[in-house]
Amino acid sequence: MRRTNVIDALKAEAIGQEIKLCGWVRTRRDSKQGFSFLEVNDGSCLRNIQVIAASDLPNYESEILKIGIGSSVEVDGVVVASPGKEQATELKAKTVKVHGFADQTSYPLQKKGTSFEFLRTIAHLRPRTNTFGAVARVRNEICRSIHNFFLSRGFVYVHAPIITGSDCEGAGQMFSVTNLDLNQLPSKEDNGHKKVDYEQDFFGKPANLTVSGQLEAEMYAMALTNVYTFGPTFRAENSNTSRHLAEFWMIEPEMAFCDLQGNMDTAEAFLKTIFSDVLKNCPEDMAFFNERIDKTVIETLKGIVESKFVRLSYTEAVDILTASKESFEFPVSWGTDLQSEHERYLAEKHFKSPVIVYNYPRAIKSFYMRLNEDGKTVAAMDVLVPKVGEIIGGSQREERLDVLEERMKEANLKPEEYWFYLDLRRFGTAPHAGFGLGLERTVQFVTGMGNIRDVIPFPRTPKNLEF
Ligand code: 4AD
Ligand code: MG
Repeated sequence: MRRTNVIDALKAEAIGQEIKLCGWVRTRRDSKQGFSFLEVNDGSCLRNIQVIAASDLPNYESEILKIGIGSSVEVDGVVVASPGKEQATELKAKTVKVHGFADQTSYPLQKKGTSFEFLRTIAHLRPRTNTFGAVARVRNEICRSIHNFFLSRGFVYVHAPIITGSDCEGAGQMFSVTNLDLNQLPSKEDNGHKKVDYEQDFFGKPANLTVSGQLEAEMYAMALTNVYTFGPTFRAENSNTSRHLAEFWMIEPEMAFCDLQGNMDTAEAFLKTIFSDVLKNCPEDMAFFNERIDKTVIETLKGIVESKFVRLSYTEAVDILTASKESFEFPVSWGTDLQSEHERYLAEKHFKSPVIVYNYPRAIKSFYMRLNEDGKTVAAMDVLVPKVGEIIGGSQREERLDVLEERMKEANLKPEEYWFYLDLRRFGTAPHAGFGLGLERTVQFVTGMGNIRDVIPFPRTPKNLEF
């Protein structure tokens, strides 16, 4: 008996085959003619397969009639053509083995639609719903597409450490990592102040969870030319929004001998590849999102794949925003950072397209971004998309040692803590650029899911660490 999954058993070419199929029951219906119909799903696709269990099966009365939603079954049977229009095949059971019943009085996933808020409280069971199964498969396809994109272009996949001694963004929104007893911290005198004695800590110095793998990616790009990282990153920012997580996944390509222009070109080609791969390889799940979540997702993605991104400087963006009749919560003026309402206005309302904004004021951007000729702006770029806002942040990096040291002082960073980063500028420095794509924001954009907590299996947000 060949073990088959639902997606293959539903294909017309499976008709006539004897197969073994395992999964979880979504519904059971009994007919008066002495049959039970089980809708079985195994996560291989959105659809269920209908299993027909006849009343002459030995365990029909004792078990099959007791199968409820959520029970797991192993069915041996033969695939037959389905009389129904919706699917090509169904499975006529020869045996139905129940591995585990699910108590219907307490199983929380009953047939009726349940809210996403409620499903977050049962994140261990929500992958069994249509929506979360589809999100998991689309997220998976996005990851495959990302790796394919870079590997097929000769980029080397580099693993950046998760525990780090440096603050890449210089923003200080980091989680500490320690094995000291927080109730009995060892201390030492430092200029008359009592301070934690980190020498007694696990690493002998303060350690944090990484906010970005960029610095490590730069080190490898300065040897391997084109690299990318793909891993979890952590930010202790107290942002309770539908687009922020404390733990999220980021993809960070870094390219040596590349400038801002090349960086923007790569980012645009990259996003288009992801979107077209998902459209091509997940048609059923995407049709589901288009029908149930956001009626515009497929059309939007198709449009983006075929059109050019709008590119404009920060200064031009500020001009558009100040000239607009929109009443923003945060006022816009040259020198202030764009808020998500401004980013969304540009992408969603003004251009109705992904937008790349570049050359931001030096004062609002990270120390590592390359200072432009004008002395006022840096070669930064953000890719903004409708509904989600910023999906990519990146820049050309400052490759000039003296300018970089100047910028670090400006940002109140201690150059000696970044000695290795400065070394890259001392030994064979080269122009280079890169960016970071937020994986969850990408999944959100592609699926149309409104809340970022619903596109990662187990979301971590302020005051929330379940599961
Ligand atoms: O713009 P960010 O902070 O850029 C960096 O971290 C750079 N080191 C990237 C680089 O140049 N290599 O973050 C990059 C992207 C954002 O555009 C956004 O998509 C996502 O990461 N992101 C978040 N996603 C979810 N929750 C958060 N709290 C996020 N913060 C950033
Ligand atoms: Mg950013």
